[in-house]
Amino acid sequence: MNAPEGNIINRRNFLKLTLAGVGTSAVGLYLFCEEGDAVNYSDPAYLYWNKFTQGGLNLENYLILCGSLAPSAHNTQPWKFSIKEKEISVFADHNRSLGSADAQHRMILISVGCALENIKVAANQLGYRADISLAPGAEFEKTGICAKVSLVSEDQPGGNPLFDSIFKRQTTRSPYLAEPTPEIVKSSMMGLNDFSNVSLRWFDDSADLASMAEINSAACVSFTKDDSAYLDSLKWWRYSREEILKKRDGISIFTSAAPAAIKQYFQYGVSPEDMAGEFGRQGEIDLMNNLFSSTPLWGVITASDVSNISRLQSGQLFERIFLDATRQDYRIQAVNYVSEQQEYASKFKELFRIPNTDELLMVFRMGKAELCEKSVRLPLSDIIV
Ligand SMILES: Cc1cc2nc3c(=O)[nH]c(=O)nc-3n(C[C@H](O)[C@H](O)[C@H](O)COP(=O)(O)O)c2cc1C
Repeated sequence: MNAPEGNIINRRNFLKLTLAGVGTSAVGLYLFCEEGDAVNYSDPAYLYWNKFTQGGLNLENYLILCGSLAPSAHNTQPWKFSIKEKEISVFADHNRSLGSADAQHRMILISVGCALENIKVAANQLGYRADISLAPGAEFEKTGICAKVSLVSEDQPGGNPLFDSIFKRQTTRSPYLAEPTPEIVKSSMMGLNDFSNVSLRWFDDSADLASMAEINSAACVSFTKDDSAYLDSLKWWRYSREEILKKRDGISIFTSAAPAAIKQYFQYGVSPEDMAGEFGRQGEIDLMNNLFSSTPLWGVITASDVSNISRLQSGQLFERIFLDATRQDYRIQAVNYVSEQQEYASKFKELFRIPNTDELLMVFRMGKAELCEKSVRLPLSDIIV
């Protein structure tokens, strides 16, 4: 694919402009920006974000729809659901994994945990208790089975303060304001953790913020040098809006805070070869460094054991925090370069006073920023088996 004619950016300086553009307005770039390339939220790929009510769907289908709005690594949406009356079985779909970028299945299990949490919150909203039994045992490798959710009708009317956030939540990849987060916000989120093996820690003093930026940056550089992990993750990169609407999964430049001109450049000028080469790798490092250095608060979720159950629970906790943050107008971005590389995970635990025997499961940024563009979702017919 070629860049549009009259393009004022060459590939060498594009990366610098991407970086500058995310933080500032990159005025000159607008010279070649055309109108009419905005997101089309009326496309079916986006419609679930507006399904605030059950409408014509039966209970189980609606809860699965809410589950599917959860975050997932690279928007792989690596879940499948089967339904019996008032019971939903939840599976990880190994065909939608990040491959060698998630060799231990951590990310896939955390993603499924996020979907479980959405199902639980939505069930409460509709007057049901969701009894979740986590079952990612020996069968997990073969069938992907993670959990069974039994829906029990409650006598009192429904309601859950986190429900609205299911539809507002998004991963926000932009610089966050340098504002301290009030203690009450951090401590109330700590209170959301009712899992005995899972811990949440906050880091926001200036020495820790500097160390966080440094180690996440080093892990990002190392990740982009690991051909197998980088190229496997690239399979989920989507290049154009057409591809996004067709595949209804994956990540792209469009859901970041990059200026319109940069997005336009990607739409027309960036090929799979570019992304697999220096252009894509250095672009990711520059973009991430800019975000890491504009982060007022980092959250870290660990488990005191290494188990599939704790990984699912970590996903549940992460999503609970994500929904609560959304309710209070905070943004979140998961950042998992460190947790996916053993060497960096060990250094990280040492640096941040986390027991070495704990499993590092989720590192995320939190802060205030404008919302970015929403991501797409697969149709229910693809995820209900
Ligand atoms: C387990 C997990 C790991 C993730 N890792 C990253 C990451 O390292 N960097 C990033 O920018 N987003 C990461 N994300 C966010 C996903 O890319 C995002 O959830 C997905 O693209 C869907 O977008 P949404 O959250 O806006 O709905 C992660 C999400 C999950 C659940």
